[in-house]
Amino acid sequence: MISEESGDLMKLFGTMKINEKGHLEIGKCDSVDLARDYGTPLYVMDEELIRERCNLFKTSFRDDDIETDVIYASKAFLTLAMCKLIKEEGLSLDVVSGGELYTALKAGFPAHRIYMHGNNKTIEELSMAIKSEVGRIIIDNRYEVDLIENICKSIKKKIKVLLRVNPGIEAHTHEYIKTTNNNSKFGESIFSDDTFNIINRLNSSEYMDFKGFHSHIGSQIFQEESFYEHINVMMDFANNVSERCGVVIRELNLGGGFGTYYSKGDIPVDLNNLLCNMLNRVKEKAKEFGISYPKVMIEPGRAIVANAGTTLYRVGSVKRTYGGRNYIFVDGSMNDNLRTSLYGAQYEAAIANRMNEEADDIYTITGRCCESGDIIVRNIALPNPKNEDIIAVSSTGAYNYSMSSNYNRLPRPPVVFVKNGKSRCVVKRETYEDIIRNDVCF
Ligand code: LLP
Repeated sequence: MISEESGDLMKLFGTMKINEKGHLEIGKCDSVDLARDYGTPLYVMDEELIRERCNLFKTSFRDDDIETDVIYASKAFLTLAMCKLIKEEGLSLDVVSGGELYTALKAGFPAHRIYMHGNNKTIEELSMAIKSEVGRIIIDNRYEVDLIENICKSIKKKIKVLLRVNPGIEAHTHEYIKTTNNNSKFGESIFSDDTFNIINRLNSSEYMDFKGFHSHIGSQIFQEESFYEHINVMMDFANNVSERCGVVIRELNLGGGFGTYYSKGDIPVDLNNLLCNMLNRVKEKAKEFGISYPKVMIEPGRAIVANAGTTLYRVGSVKRTYGGRNYIFVDGSMNDNLRTSLYGAQYEAAIANRMNEEADDIYTITGRCCESGDIIVRNIALPNPKNEDIIAVSSTGAYNYSMSSNYNRLPRPPVVFVKNGKSRCVVKRETYEDIIRNDVCF
């Protein structure tokens, strides 16, 4: 008997469909063929869906009276090909480390459309960002102010900056991905007097063009109200700063966090509505205070790529434990999807080569790591999985490849983009040679 909580059939997104062979198809490519051609585990990205999501954000977050910018949060998924796609779609790019910045620059992403984040940027990272003339540096704390000023002075460059602030909003999401409670490590609190000193300092700097604020309330947020409350608090703060420091806040970057469907019970907000309402709320608040409209930015990551990704695995053994649990052993692991073990995330899955068959029991999909917590999907109803079946786990486009590791020296899977019946490899499968490439032998 299959329990209620085991969920329904795997939800299909974008170009996913079941073809005449009963196989899962993505971007008009048969997933069983993809598994055969590229091997497993394999990350498959639906290019059309990524572009569609970019477009949805671009067109919905637009207003005749307000300047806006949609910045893709590259930590969700970044490769050279992804940078190129984001550039073509006309979004800006949020990077959070030298590695992400390097990838963007190597891909020829226009530096002026790059926003450089990070709560503890190194001198090297800041120098790289300033020398390459990124669009904005988002300052996290007082210490960074001096660092940036010194670097700019020494190379005689002026840089545009935003200050990341913490507005103390309660976003109802997982503890690990909340970012604005009063003990969060990110940004400077809007309640602290010292934050006003930092603003004055930035405003009088010769080397920093202080544009305004950034804040991000957390990730995977489903409550629309959290986004509006965030705007209220930030606009109140902007007004307060204008009055206290005599500074005009020209830009407001509201971060990302738009919740995405992974499994039953996840109800994403209607983005079209939300984005339009967010801009209206900014306008209302600006009118209330008699201040000019700031340029408003958002930084979606997950909401652009999560549903576009599917991971394909091949089944090895299927084991029923003495205690009665059914395990499906696949050739991937928590290394290619850390979210289940780290956040207790729930995914949906299906047998890609037998999409039309009915489930016979509840299974736990586990990987190859020497770790009991190496779970990819818990309690999922599947039709009698057996050796050589291809398991598809959906909505793995965000924070899967980007959080992958080599634990147990397992090579990372490749990434392919699929579109209109064509697939192209955008990240090659790691080899054993890659695994030892930085080892030094005495
Ligand atoms: N902007 C900033 C400053 C952020 O810190 C983040 C995410 C985003 C934008 C994008 O948020 P999104 O739209 O993707 O929710 N590894 C976790 C998520 C960590 C999010 C970190 N910051 C997970 O897999 O759920």
